[in-house]
Amino acid sequence: MSGFSATWLALREPLDLTARNKEVEAAFFEALPAETPKILDLASGAGSTVAALVGEKSDIHWILSDYDSDLLSVAANRDYATKPGSLQTREIDLAANLKELPIEAVDAITTSAFLDLVSENFLTQLVEAIVSSRKPFLASLTYDGRTGFSPAEPLDQDLRDAMNRDQQTDKGFGPALGPNAAERAIALFEARGYRVVSGESDWIIGPQHEDFLAEFLPGWVGAGVKQGAQKTKAYDWLESRRSQIADGAFNMTVGHLDFAALPA
Ligand SMILES: C[S@@+](CC[C@H](N)C(=O)[O-])C[C@H]1O[C@@H](n2cnc3c(N)ncnc32)[C@H](O)[C@@H]1O
Repeated sequence: MSGFSATWLALREPLDLTARNKEVEAAFFEALPAETPKILDLASGAGSTVAALVGEKSDIHWILSDYDSDLLSVAANRDYATKPGSLQTREIDLAANLKELPIEAVDAITTSAFLDLVSENFLTQLVEAIVSSRKPFLASLTYDGRTGFSPAEPLDQDLRDAMNRDQQTDKGFGPALGPNAAERAIALFEARGYRVVSGESDWIIGPQHEDFLAEFLPGWVGAGVKQGAQKTKAYDWLESRRSQIADGAFNMTVGHLDFAALPA
């Protein structure tokens, strides 16, 4: 088990699918072989990248990797909108065994909602492995530190700053890059001569996402408190946000960046 439950990933998936940047995906698709490309997806969870791309290109042969066998089982057994070309899973702890990935054997690598968890050291090794095999890479939905609330409240910024500090704690790879991950990855790819196409992929959250918010906001506040936000004020903030959601008067954006890194 990874701490990312299938229930949580299913709650966020509709927001992810709407948010993904289509121009970035189109640039990635252009770099793929015209027919039956083989794609390795990193930290696949319950198969959200397949769900996102299967409608655009159905003949992809997927290798999904994750260290959570329960999530991989969900990914392997779910009904995608269109049946993929084929789908294999590979249980692997990426932090320990990055070198075991079959990067040379595939046409491209993808990941989503993952790079913000990794360290500078891991990211450097990953970029090196991808660049040295000249493969295209698509990284979707990396959190970039921007969070906005409507209506605005005085505690918003303190909570966001505390949450962004929490995003940089160790998530199993050493100190995480958190909100800096996408920018750092883009710089590393560009330094190695890759062309990068990037664009925002923000979650646009409203009161209609009540089930998602019921999970997300307490986790967000809890992480903020752990990183120094004042506890009583933070939980008062949460109560105030809950009543705004019930009144249909709450909106939130969470900033993400998508990028495709393409061999020149
Ligand atoms: C936020 S989830 C994203 C899952 C999926 N890519 C998506 O977009 O829904 C992060 C994923 O990273 C995986 N993960 C975290 N640390 C890992 C590690 N050391 N090795 C392999 N997978 C890992 C988790 O199991 C989880 O599936």
